[in-house]
Amino acid sequence: DLIPVLLSGGSGTRLWPLSREGYPKQFLALSGEHSMLQATWLRVAPMMAQGAPLVVTNERHRFMVAEQLRQVGCEPSAIVLEPAVRNTAPAIAAAALQATREGADPLLLVLPSDHVIADEAAFREAVQAAVPRAEDGALITFGIVPSSPETGYGYIKAAPGEGVRAVERFVEKPDAATAEQYLDSGAYFWNSGMFLFRASRYLQELEKHRPEILSACRDAFDKAARDCDFLRLDKDAFEACPSDSIDYAVMEKTDAAEVLPIEAGWNDVGSWAALWEVATQDRDGNAYRGDVMAVDCRNSYAWSERRLVAMIGLDDTVVVDTDDALLVARRDRVQEVKQIVERLKGDA
Ligand code: GDD
Ligand code: MG
Repeated sequence: DLIPVLLSGGSGTRLWPLSREGYPKQFLALSGEHSMLQATWLRVAPMMAQGAPLVVTNERHRFMVAEQLRQVGCEPSAIVLEPAVRNTAPAIAAAALQATREGADPLLLVLPSDHVIADEAAFREAVQAAVPRAEDGALITFGIVPSSPETGYGYIKAAPGEGVRAVERFVEKPDAATAEQYLDSGAYFWNSGMFLFRASRYLQELEKHRPEILSACRDAFDKAARDCDFLRLDKDAFEACPSDSIDYAVMEKTDAAEVLPIEAGWNDVGSWAALWEVATQDRDGNAYRGDVMAVDCRNSYAWSERRLVAMIGLDDTVVVDTDDALLVARRDRVQEVKQIVERLKGDA
């Protein structure tokens, strides 16, 4: 048994002004006709003869999640609702507790709901190839050949070999100098943030390395309220849970981590620059969405929600025009929209 676990809890502030706290990235159709959440399901659906995914999301997005999945014919076995933001280690623990509640012990395929994967068949083949090791108890991550010294990713040093292999070292979000060194060494992969393991194995490793997270999640799960497909974790218990990601809480610490490198055109579209990269570009390297006119522009990205946007003589520029906000930025500095979002929060 293999159960996809769709993680839909991020806030995607790096794609401001399009993605907002109330309407984060995974619900937007950033590339293609489906939202990223819908695309995440559609990508795994062909390998699911029967069987439904588990979804873990913030309480306030429950109707958007339910409606978007319904639109693509996806019927989750449960939508686990988090009454507070506690990052991915608790979210995955809640999914694992739900999956094991009747003595079952399925494989969980943990999927962030906000990535682009160009070669879906290659992705599915990789998952199938990793199944035997996961059945034997390994915690599998899928590794990506790094192309730049990004500091927003986990780095994995893989043992030499082919196919699924041991992880010699897992370092979540190293500093810039370390990332540079890892890239130059040629021995490291990026962590894609997708995982495959037995539900019980994740719970065991979490118990071993962060028992206080597991016990808070158990408490929140045992006291959860069920209504239709929604499983609402207990608020007080879940709020008492420490916040941490699976990467820091488990993957950096466990001895059972293994990695399968994949080449599937993975991109976590964490910025407007990343979106420009995956978009179809014209001869001058420009990509546009919506009503955009450009004269003599190069390597630029423009997105207009409603009105005509016209640009002249711009290189390496990002322009995003929405109803109530306009972003104009140098393409190599789009990560700094975080600062705008922080300031806006401060004003609120
Ligand atoms: N349900 C739920 N609850 N989902 C969450 C939560 C939460 O509290 N926090 C994050 N998520 C979801 C996000 O929506 C996203 O789909 C996924 O979990 C990963 O969270 P991010 O916040 O995007 O993590 P990251 O990008 O900083 O780092 C992770 O992904 C990188 C690759 O994109 C790590 O796994 C890195 O090691 C990895 O390289
Ligand atoms: Mg991410």
